[in-house]
Amino acid sequence: MRIVLGVSGGIAAYKAVEVCRRFVGAGHEVTAVLTDAARRFVGEATFSALATNPVPEGLWQRWDGGIAHTRLGQRADLVVVAPATADFLARYAAGMADDLLSATLLVTRAPVVVCPAMHTEMWEHPAVVENLLALRRRGVHVVPPESGTLAGGDEGAGRMAEPATIVATALALSARRCDLTGTHVVVSAGGTREPIDPVRVITNRSSGKQGHAIAEAAAARGARVTLVTSSALSAPAGVEVVHVESAADMHAAIAAAAPGADVVVMAAAVADFRPKAPAAQKVHGLPELVLEPTPDILAGLAEARRPGQVLVGFAAETQDVVARARRKLERKGVDLVVVNDVSAPGAGFDHDTNEVTILGADGSVAVVPLTSKRQVADAILDEVVARLERDARDTRDARDSKRDTKED
Ligand code: C5P
Repeated sequence: MRIVLGVSGGIAAYKAVEVCRRFVGAGHEVTAVLTDAARRFVGEATFSALATNPVPEGLWQRWDGGIAHTRLGQRADLVVVAPATADFLARYAAGMADDLLSATLLVTRAPVVVCPAMHTEMWEHPAVVENLLALRRRGVHVVPPESGTLAGGDEGAGRMAEPATIVATALALSARRCDLTGTHVVVSAGGTREPIDPVRVITNRSSGKQGHAIAEAAAARGARVTLVTSSALSAPAGVEVVHVESAADMHAAIAAAAPGADVVVMAAAVADFRPKAPAAQKVHGLPELVLEPTPDILAGLAEARRPGQVLVGFAAETQDVVARARRKLERKGVDLVVVNDVSAPGAGFDHDTNEVTILGADGSVAVVPLTSKRQVADAILDEVVARLERDARDTRDARDSKRDTKED
């Protein structure tokens, strides 16, 4: 794997030397890109000696038969920035491209991991918090700092994570990249709109952000993705999109896409009820609303599912969150239920962040603390991949034991 190791100017730059050594030791091709400030902390000669390639001088250099500021990012399989200073994070979040590291980050389509390191006051400053949130929203992975001794002998949160943690996290992340290749993943997103008359609808607060993030993450991990969405959010790149309005539309679109799919993730907030007879003309005065239940799309999928298909449901709750979700898991007959406490700060409807618990029918429980919806998406897909792999293993074992019995 071709790794670009970005080093920005903080005292933790000395630990980047160890990160570099570990990546090279694990058999990867490493190019270290140093900012001007980083060069004040650690000499270029150290990285040139340890990395696979010499340290590129800067933006204007030719590199690998092309120009350094585009070629490095284009050819990278992984970019890790350790340490990532407050200044670097601000420049990256703003989309600057005035030095080799920032330009490389703007060009690359590879996964990016940043490892912040700074004083506690800076780490807690709203500007830094917002820059990191913006980067997380764009799919950048963050290895959070630890607490400990900081530059100048101060103590507190902000010390860069240990090199072993950084290397393990970054390598695990890129191993994920292709683990859905060859699969078809269907994702539903957004709140449905149930007509009262041609003007009014019954709907809910779902924005579709979590479902869109799942579609984007599944595509990035190599899946063919069909996104059935009622949301006006723009569609992630490389995803087939079916726009729907009502629960009935969503039912029809899912029924068309799901039978051949390997995975169906019902992240949509499908209305549980709708007006029984929507008026053909605009109602004047108070409408008499008679409601009827909508078909439960997910439960229908579970009844009709083919062996090996993984089904994921969502549960948005405000109290007894996990207990209710566990009952839902059983009632719906699905493999996984992602539980959202939509009353928790920063979680659920319309936020860019989320905090979930993923319950498995096999008794597994995975807690994902508050993070970007994109990272929640990857955590859900990790659970899905574990089930696909287990099914594939079970099928292989069953086939082998059948063959062994025949040969006996
Ligand atoms: O029963 P409840 O609406 O809480 O279940 C939520 C889960 O069921 C979500 O995954 C949602 O997409 C799905 N659902 C469905 N059809 C409905 C209602 C919900 O597939 N009519």
